[in-house]
Amino acid sequence: MDGVEEVKSRLSVEDVIGEYVQLKRAGRNWRGLSPWTSEKTPSLMVSPDKQIWHDFSSGKGGNIFSFVMELEGLDFKGALELLARKAGVDLEQYRTSGPSRGPSKEKLYQANELAAHFYQAQFIKSRVAIDYVSKKRQFTGDTTLAWRLGYSPNTGSALVDYLKSKKFTPDEIKRAGLANSYGKDMFRGRLMIPLADGQGRIIGFTARILDEGEPKYINTSATVLYDKSRHVYGLHLAKEAIRKNNYVVLSEGNLDVIASHQAGVKNVVATAGTALTSQHLKALARFTSDIRLAFDADKAGLAATERAIPLASQAGVSLSIISIPSGKDPDELIKQDKSKWLEIIEKPKYALDWLVEQYEKRLDLTGARGKREFSDVLLPVVKQLDDKVEQDHYLNQIAKILDVSASSLTEKMAGASEPISAPRRRAKEPAKLTDDERQIAEKNKIEEHLLAILMNQPKLLKSANLVTTKMLSSAAQKAWRVVNQPNYDPKKPVQNLDDYDKILGLEFEELYQGLGVDELTYEVQRLQSRLIEKYSKTRKSEIASELASADDLRSEQLLAEAKKLDNLLKQAIERRE
Ligand code: CTP
Ligand code: MN
Repeated sequence: MDGVEEVKSRLSVEDVIGEYVQLKRAGRNWRGLSPWTSEKTPSLMVSPDKQIWHDFSSGKGGNIFSFVMELEGLDFKGALELLARKAGVDLEQYRTSGPSRGPSKEKLYQANELAAHFYQAQFIKSRVAIDYVSKKRQFTGDTTLAWRLGYSPNTGSALVDYLKSKKFTPDEIKRAGLANSYGKDMFRGRLMIPLADGQGRIIGFTARILDEGEPKYINTSATVLYDKSRHVYGLHLAKEAIRKNNYVVLSEGNLDVIASHQAGVKNVVATAGTALTSQHLKALARFTSDIRLAFDADKAGLAATERAIPLASQAGVSLSIISIPSGKDPDELIKQDKSKWLEIIEKPKYALDWLVEQYEKRLDLTGARGKREFSDVLLPVVKQLDDKVEQDHYLNQIAKILDVSASSLTEKMAGASEPISAPRRRAKEPAKLTDDERQIAEKNKIEEHLLAILMNQPKLLKSANLVTTKMLSSAAQKAWRVVNQPNYDPKKPVQNLDDYDKILGLEFEELYQGLGVDELTYEVQRLQSRLIEKYSKTRKSEIASELASADDLRSEQLLAEAKKLDNLLKQAIERRE
């Protein structure tokens, strides 16, 4: 796999575009407002199946790279670098030669696996570590083994020396995230909690100090294998239970996850040490759409929930909040009263209801100031809800709580700031088109629609028999030749069309899915006559200017061509009536 493929395999088109444009579900696809025009009805379509996008208002389309190129004004290399950073892909690795070529991913997996093993072996020999885990945290031997808990010795370079003895180079050890910039052990004298990917392969570590002290935790920094903004702790051991229960509990701490599993509740994972991202939600959405947050009800927890609601709304998952008795986290609660944990995870509160309730408790809503603060926080969240009925429900509820009119809230909401999570970024300048350019854009659109039908229903070609190759733009000509091949089969992938065939497939789904043969035949005839109309218009103005300087013979030919165009158009119009 090369760098481009690796980036493509890690980033989905809906995630990449979703960072720029707010996307909403539209059947199997996603839909959003074009960032290139100031439209009100969404015409940007994103296909997760095909991993492509197409903007029907500007005619642009392609894959993740072309989107970033268009929107950020980058060349391909620039777009690749940007997306590689986002995906945590080290492009250096894919350079074919040169001294800076990094170690393979396989090598980095091996280093992390050996490190986990080494830390486990050290743990067994360390009285302080065993005491901490068994007494302080009350984890059993089985739990310790299942989560592969370990201990990093405090000698400076115990792990580095061990890995070197196993023929790893200092560069490999560093790139695996296991050494600091001095080439010494990254983790020392700490409880080691390995981080695994979905298949259970070790990709990094979280390390907790054994007693009190700062920093309490240190984590593997970003490596080719580990990206904290997408990693969900515990997923490899939780996914079965998540599927079975059809919900997942998302906590903040790694040790909360372990404690809950030990208590028998295994559909629990964590976003350890980082804010919830849409990638976390997408990773979980593969298993369930019922996501329950077990976050602290402190100020940070409130802010985290405010940010999470729109992310969840976009990801199409339902978000609710598990209220933990104050000042506790799941781990502490489980230690104190396991049955309470079992009870509260079954009774989550829908996230926005929870948020309203929290602010009702915290603010004095009798005065103007409290009312303003309350609406300042909640309206931007309500504004980002996908569902209009739901939005209306909350507007009315807030109006009632504040004893103000719903219309004043609607007005305030219209002015409320843009989504925090998915800022709608506008491309440089919405281009002003000249008349000629608009004509060309319109003609391209007609061609696209026509070919979208024909590529899916080649039988209808006979209804487009007045179309000739020279009428079409160059992109459309290629597709036209393809559908005119006698052995053309719409079910087989087409070579050499770049993504034009996929875009047409998407367009067909968008516009014509579900129409019968009669309706499609009529549409083909209509598009044919409009295409000929457009073509004949541009061609005739060319003829007119050429006539000015043509000799007799050429004039004859040109006039004959103009006449033929008139006839053709007449036929096409008759045909469709
Ligand atoms: N965290 C971190 N760096 C810190 C503090 C916390 O990366 N300095 C991450 C850890 O992954 C931790 C999570 O944030 O699990 C939640 O933090 P916190 O609630 O403070 O820790 P607990 O998980 O409760 O840890 P403990 O029970 O050991 O205090
Ligand atoms: Mn804790």
